[in-house]
Amino acid sequence: MAASELAWWQKGIVYQVYPRSFQDSDGDGVGDLPGITARLEHLRRLGVDAVWISPFYPSPMADFGYDVTDHRGVDPRFGTLADFDALLARAHALGLRVVLDLIPNHTSDRHPWFAEARRSRSDPRRDWYIWRDPAPDGGPPNNWVSAFGGSVWQWEPATEQLYLHTYLREQPDLNWRNRAVEAAIHDVMRFWLDRGVDGFRVDAVQNLVKDEMLRDNPPNPAYVDGADPYDRLLRVHSGDRPEVQDHVRGMRRLVKSYGGDRVLIGEIYNAVERLMPYYGTAGDGCDFPYNFQLIRLPWDARAIDAAVRRYEGLLPAGAWPNWVLGNHDRARVATRVGPAQARVAAVLLLTLRGTPTIYYGDEIGMRDVPIPPGRERDPWGINLPGMGLGRDPERTPMQWDAGPGAGFTTGEPWLPIADDWRTVNVEAQRDDPASILTLHRRLIALRRTEPALHGGAWAPVEAEGGVLAYARESGDARFLVALNLSPDEASLSLDSVGGGEVVMGTHADGEGRAVQGRLELRGDEAVVVRLRA
Ligand code: NOJ
Repeated sequence: MAASELAWWQKGIVYQVYPRSFQDSDGDGVGDLPGITARLEHLRRLGVDAVWISPFYPSPMADFGYDVTDHRGVDPRFGTLADFDALLARAHALGLRVVLDLIPNHTSDRHPWFAEARRSRSDPRRDWYIWRDPAPDGGPPNNWVSAFGGSVWQWEPATEQLYLHTYLREQPDLNWRNRAVEAAIHDVMRFWLDRGVDGFRVDAVQNLVKDEMLRDNPPNPAYVDGADPYDRLLRVHSGDRPEVQDHVRGMRRLVKSYGGDRVLIGEIYNAVERLMPYYGTAGDGCDFPYNFQLIRLPWDARAIDAAVRRYEGLLPAGAWPNWVLGNHDRARVATRVGPAQARVAAVLLLTLRGTPTIYYGDEIGMRDVPIPPGRERDPWGINLPGMGLGRDPERTPMQWDAGPGAGFTTGEPWLPIADDWRTVNVEAQRDDPASILTLHRRLIALRRTEPALHGGAWAPVEAEGGVLAYARESGDARFLVALNLSPDEASLSLDSVGGGEVVMGTHADGEGRAVQGRLELRGDEAVVVRLRA
């Protein structure tokens, strides 16, 4: 496809903001919408195209906004609808798109819909959620395990039935087999699309539809004792049912009725081959289901090489790829791979084929922050202590400058600020040519100007050991990307691609050098080489 025919979300880069932690504007220690608006300039300077904002809707915050009581509002902690409109207007004025988090799988248990549903078995709203009698032995109706620990079933003494919650008991699942639920969520989508948003990242979309008979999930033969209990069973009946595609199609039709440039992104944690159905058939599904392989794979050149090849091979015709290095649910990339490799990872993310998503703070190399006992906030970590599942470490405040509160807040931050904030911050890195922030900005600029990098074909290049290599090309322009994922020196034969010139890399002093025959890489070095035609 010619790069000029690509949509913004294909050519562009998404930046994820976790609103509690981006910028506090009123000193309560929690980030908010006016704070995001005030910091949009950072995104523009970085060169990204869109901001995806994690939920800011009214919520009791049992799961920090993924438990919604009103899908059409703004939680007062985050501001007002007028603040949202101002954010959207400012973003659009800066040429940035705004993507919202849509949470259709569940609501808060304090949502008015659930308040009605739990009132009586005959309430018209009852069937908006999933209720069952206990099993004959008095136990739960089936063996499904909640993502955050324990059974998915919660007993309601008032009506003597149990309701299903894939996540917290404070997050009852909606019943998508009831078409009124779909219509209600479509109304929510219209509400935001009418305000001018550019699309949605759809939370937990694979879980929308459950097996009609709620059959037990089979045991997972690969499960090892001590691992996350959520993985004890294969979740073949509790989610990822074929029926879900019908609802994805419905969401797409709605989103695209507002114009082809609105984007629909699915959040799906699945084996790669099970991501593909979410593209739909003949492009009637998500624009892209999120691809979390770089978060989950060992940081190993051969493993990543195999995964990229496999993913590229599995993509249906015309399906658009995407890559993610970090998000609010997983350890930060700089912690997973270390600071030197975080730079290599940036080169990887920004040169692979497909839309990259950058998690706030990763562009300055923020690391997971150890949370002292008593300050944990994430229910996942609190419910399953000692397993390292808590997500607070990757959700700590953005480090803007070396001042008090890291420029994030004038108050007491809701999570601790990293110890290294005086040196690892936006202001310190902004004009430093060697900083990881500058590396991101330059890579993004290169990706934007070179059609081969934002829209061109991808081809594997044979490499060994710690080196990962591939080519990108469009028309006459050809690039080689070579990444040394190890701390040791390494080299790569250029026989199959020819020679060229290093145009960008993790090590600025390596730029401009001509390469021919063999490419020598220092430990932790990644380069982008413009190949001779
Ligand atoms: C996925 C979200 O990313 C996560 O943060 C949340 O806890 C669950 N879905 C439930 O909404």
